Amino acid sequence: YNSDSSSLLVVVAVTSVFLCVNSEVSAVNVTSLTQVVRGTVGKEALLSVSYSSSSSDKPVIKWLLKKNKEKPITVVQSIGTDIIGNLRPEYRNRILVLENGSLLLHDLKLSDEGAYEVEISITDDSFTGEHYIELTVDVPVSKPYIQMMASSVLEYSEHFNLHCSHENGTKPIYSWLKGGKVLTNDSRLLLSYDQKVLTISRVLMSDDDIYTCAVENPISSLKSMPVRLTVYRRSSLYIILSTGGIFLLITLVTVCACWKPSKLQNVSKINILCLSVDVVPKPATLGRRSPMPLYVLNEDVS
Ligand SMILES: *[C@@H]1O[C@H](CO)[C@@H](O)[C@H](O)[C@H]1NC(C)=O
Ligand SMILES: *[C@@H]1O[C@H](CO)[C@@H](O)[C@H](O)[C@H]1NC(C)=O
Ligand SMILES: *[C@@H]1O[C@H](CO)[C@@H](O)[C@H](O)[C@H]1NC(C)=O
Ligand SMILES: *[C@@H]1O[C@H](CO)[C@@H](O)[C@H](O)[C@H]1NC(C)=O
Repeated sequence: YNSDSSSLLVVVAVTSVFLCVNSEVSAVNVTSLTQVVRGTVGKEALLSVSYSSSSSDKPVIKWLLKKNKEKPITVVQSIGTDIIGNLRPEYRNRILVLENGSLLLHDLKLSDEGAYEVEISITDDSFTGEHYIELTVDVPVSKPYIQMMASSVLEYSEHFNLHCSHENGTKPIYSWLKGGKVLTNDSRLLLSYDQKVLTISRVLMSDDDIYTCAVENPISSLKSMPVRLTVYRRSSLYIILSTGGIFLLITLVTVCACWKPSKLQNVSKINILCLSVDVVPKPATLGRRSPMPLYVLNEDVS
């Protein structure tokens, strides 16, 4: 070996390594930091990508939208940032392709939701770069509210329901909190399949608590105003009767006794009146509320 032939070998080796490397990178490399973009109706969404290529030519960029199981539709096609051809009517004036290949959608519609695919190709490169981004489009949720049969209930009552409702907001997911703790489906505190309805199958004193419902979707979450459920002990009825209530009872019995002889037809009515004493709570225990039958306090708790 002389020095000339060894330097020739080195040149050959370097050249072949260079060719190998060059053939490996002759593809457009599309990268993105996001897999999912959560958009809001009426706002904008940036499906952000960037690409790298060994070529400095302008890329051909194509964005496709695939909605569940349907044939993909071409959203836009461009050379660099210049859109080719006519846009579909639903995309006119609200689509931009950026320098790095990203797609900017203005004035989002619910129908924009789906899986987007970008294909970026450059004439010199043998392979097209691809990337997928999922776009969700939602209406933010409005504040939910709780409706219940009554704001107080007697211990051991069955099937007491609390309903959670909300006006606006797509894909709502409901949940419930009792005294600030998240409720899970349980044999006594049952959550309906969609978790909108909480049913207390058999009311216990431990259910006397503050309840809140929450609703969330991919872009927002809100809690209802807390509502208080008061549970009255069965035995407290007798306590009420034996203390303050006894006076009321005596008064009513007296009234009944006085009325009875005057009109016979009134007997049944009077009996009802007398019976209702059983369920008139002591005013002090109800605070501001006016005395009403315990089980049905017809308050609108919305
Ligand atoms: C594409 O880019 C990513 C991130 O910069 C890099 O990890 C990957 O190796 C590149 N792929 C090719 C084929 O150049
Ligand atoms: C692409 O360009 C836009 C606008 O300049 C920028 O906001 C975005 O972050 C870029 N995307 C990536 C993946 O770099
Ligand atoms: C629900 O949406 C309608 C129409 O956009 C609006 O008028 C109404 O105020 C919204 N309700 C709530 C509770 O935000
Ligand atoms: C809770 O359990 C009941 C009965 O087992 C069931 O019908 C209901 O769908 C469950 N709710 C949830 C949210 O899983």
